Amino acid sequence: MHVTLPHGVQLRYDDAGSGQPVVLLHAFPLSAALWRAQLSTLGDRMRMIAPDLRGFGGSPATPLPQSLDDYATDVLALLDILNIERAVLAGLSMGGYIAFALLLRAPERISGLLLADTRATADSEETRAARAVNARIALEEGSAALAGRMLPNLVAPGASEALRAELLSIAAANPPEGIAAALHAMAARPDSTPLLAEIRVPTTVVVGAEDALTPPAEAQVMHNAIADSRFVVIPHAGHLSAIERPAEFNLALVELVMRVEAASRT
Ligand code: MLT
Repeated sequence: MHVTLPHGVQLRYDDAGSGQPVVLLHAFPLSAALWRAQLSTLGDRMRMIAPDLRGFGGSPATPLPQSLDDYATDVLALLDILNIERAVLAGLSMGGYIAFALLLRAPERISGLLLADTRATADSEETRAARAVNARIALEEGSAALAGRMLPNLVAPGASEALRAELLSIAAANPPEGIAAALHAMAARPDSTPLLAEIRVPTTVVVGAEDALTPPAEAQVMHNAIADSRFVVIPHAGHLSAIERPAEFNLALVELVMRVEAASRT
């Protein structure tokens, strides 16, 4: 589906299934294609809205400067258009950063949270510098060049060649401008750690046991700071747990949706 939001941004999104609304926020530098194993199997259990964030997949890039708050604005506008008052947010890595931006902006719109392979802290100076280099690579050498460099860290060492090729082709199809804009936005994001103690909705923190970018120890710290949180470590998964080990990831998502449904009945 395609929509032009009231503030002019164009988004492509998937809208699949029925029941509890769940917004799936993808990782960098991918697209809603990250969620194919959720979109194809969980439709009888929940309604999944999976946008290609601006500048990724079928959603055109917008000019710099850009902040994570802009992506959050897009998600809120999409929910308004779809008449969805409250939704579970499931954000993987960059998707988690956007979930934090939404939590700050509009906590009343969030009924549950799945924070996968992500972190609440801001970038270090070293990471910011690396993002500037990566933005230059994307703009000067192309999206495929950057994707090729990033891929080894995105999946567990045992990931199949087929999955690696699929991820590479998703990332390579993204416009370099969208990739550079997201790098810029992630580098400028604030520290969301103080928000963790404010989270009042059912939450699940998911992490791949072999996640090299946002390791289990870091996810555990985030989980410990959230009142109603469950912690799920997925064996044999790296940073992209949703697509690497979909059965285990889906189980965690369904369990969260059940808790959200139970909470709404009380
Ligand atoms: C992601 O998977 O979204 C990225 O690893 C996030 C980041 O670069 O911090």
